[in-house]
Amino acid sequence: MSVQVLNHPLINVLMTNLRSQETSSSEFRLTAKKISSLMAYEIFKDLKIEKKRIDTPLESFLGVTVQDPKPCIISILRAGLIISEGITDIFDKVSIGHIGMYRDEKTLNPVNYLIKLPSNLENRQCFLCDPMLATGGSAMSSLETLKKNKASDITLVCLLASDEGIRNVKEKFSDVKIICAQKDSKLNEKGFIVPGLGDAGDRIFDT
Ligand code: PRP
Repeated sequence: MSVQVLNHPLINVLMTNLRSQETSSSEFRLTAKKISSLMAYEIFKDLKIEKKRIDTPLESFLGVTVQDPKPCIISILRAGLIISEGITDIFDKVSIGHIGMYRDEKTLNPVNYLIKLPSNLENRQCFLCDPMLATGGSAMSSLETLKKNKASDITLVCLLASDEGIRNVKEKFSDVKIICAQKDSKLNEKGFIVPGLGDAGDRIFDT
C-alpha cells in the first residue's frame, strides 16, 4: 500500500490556518476546500484517460479525455463533503457517493446512517474522502462498504492523518492507497489527532 504525505509548502501554509483555533468556521470551510482543490493535482495523477481527437480553430489535435466509467468521489459525511467540493471545483467529470457515518464519542466506534453509492464501482477509480484519519475506524468501516460493493481501486484522501490510523488501515486494507496533506504522530485519550485541528465536522459546519 502506498502512503503519500503531500507536505507541499502551499498546502502547509493553508494547513497552518486550518489548525489554528483563531480560524473562523467560514474561513475553515474555505481553507479546507482550497487544500482539497490543490490535492486534486496529486489525487488524479493516475487518472484513466483515453485519446480524443478535437479541432482547434486552426487544425485537428489529438488530445485526451476521461475514460468511462468516470472516477467516483465518495464522501464520508459530514466532513468529507468539503473535500468532494474542493476536488469537483477543479475536476467535475466524476460520480459522487455518500457514506453517512459518525464516531460514537464514548466507544469511538463508527455508526453508519446512510450508504448511497454510484453503480459499477468495480470498474472505477474510487476516492474515499474524509478530512481526518484518526483511529481509522470510520475509514475502515467505509472501506468495508466499498469492498462489499466490489470497489477494487481505492484511494483514501485525507487532510490530516495519524500514524495509528494509517497503520490500522494499512494492516487491514493493504491494497488501498492513502493521500494526505499532513500527518501527526499522536492521538489523545479521546481518539483526537494531536496537535491536530480539532473536530473537522464541527468546525466546517459551526456546530
Ligand atoms: C470525524 C472525522 C472522521 C472521523 C475520524 O467524524 O471527520 O470521519 O471522526 O475518526 P476515526 O478515524 O477515529 O474514525 P465525526 O464523527 O466527528 O463526524 P462528522 O464528520 O459528522 O463531524
